[in-house]
Amino acid sequence: MDKRTYYQQREVVENYDSWRFGSPGGQYVDAREKAALLDLLGPLDRSARVLDMPCGTGRLLRSLGSAGFTSVVGADASPAMLEQARIAAPSFPAVEADAFATPFESGSFQAVCSLRFLFHVEQAPAFFAEVARILKPGGLFVFDTLLWTPRGFLPAIDRKLGGRLFCYSEARVGEMLRSQGLTVQKTIRVLALPSLVYRFLPAFLLRPVGWFDRNAWGPLFTKAFVLAAKDGHPGDPERTGPPNPGAPAPGAAGAEGS
Ligand SMILES: C[S@@+](CC[C@H](N)C(=O)[O-])C[C@H]1O[C@@H](n2cnc3c(N)ncnc32)[C@H](O)[C@@H]1O
Repeated sequence: MDKRTYYQQREVVENYDSWRFGSPGGQYVDAREKAALLDLLGPLDRSARVLDMPCGTGRLLRSLGSAGFTSVVGADASPAMLEQARIAAPSFPAVEADAFATPFESGSFQAVCSLRFLFHVEQAPAFFAEVARILKPGGLFVFDTLLWTPRGFLPAIDRKLGGRLFCYSEARVGEMLRSQGLTVQKTIRVLALPSLVYRFLPAFLLRPVGWFDRNAWGPLFTKAFVLAAKDGHPGDPERTGPPNPGAPAPGAAGAEGS
């Protein structure tokens, strides 16, 4: 089953947050990811137009709102996910969009965040190209990349969680971004253990694991957060334009049609 279809399923959508973030270890991961996102968006003006894509159930829309961002848009390919996002963050619009061919005008966002998506994407350059198109010059792009995962060895878990994942090293990500006119500004290694391990951690282990996540040896890390900026300066003339004219048909690009 392709990823888009997987995330349309009512049961998957309803269990999305509780399966991943419902346990003490899951809450720890959720908090750590949100902290990394807000840290990387740090100095961005709170009135900046920010896109969260794919927004899923809206967990980051809510955090962006709590952090003071006032002009946030959520986008996702799954209508069922969007329903949840609208409940989680009713003050922000949440629109149906394919991340490879969005309906947004060129240069229309000062920041794009995209968590837990790149590892579903087989054709990362096509996704990065679309992000670069909709960002303003100097605009920021924050996303996470999976550096390694044991999931490929656990086909039953892989199936339960939606299929194959794609790992991109920091070096590979840097190269792919460069070719789309995006430059890495900062990388933070965030989680040293595989996500699945956190999911089952008992609460009493969270403190030592927290220490490990701040101090572990670099190559151990499974997930890094990346801040990239679109080349150019905010004052540069914008080459605004209509929604992606050369985009592939919705669903044509990406991981298994993801
Ligand atoms: C693992 S969830 C991540 C959601 C959210 N960013 C988070 O961190 O919780 C992946 C999301 O990608 C969406 N998705 C999959 N393929 C997509 C595509 N081509 N365009 C837009 N969204 C897509 C799914 O509907 C799902 O909501």
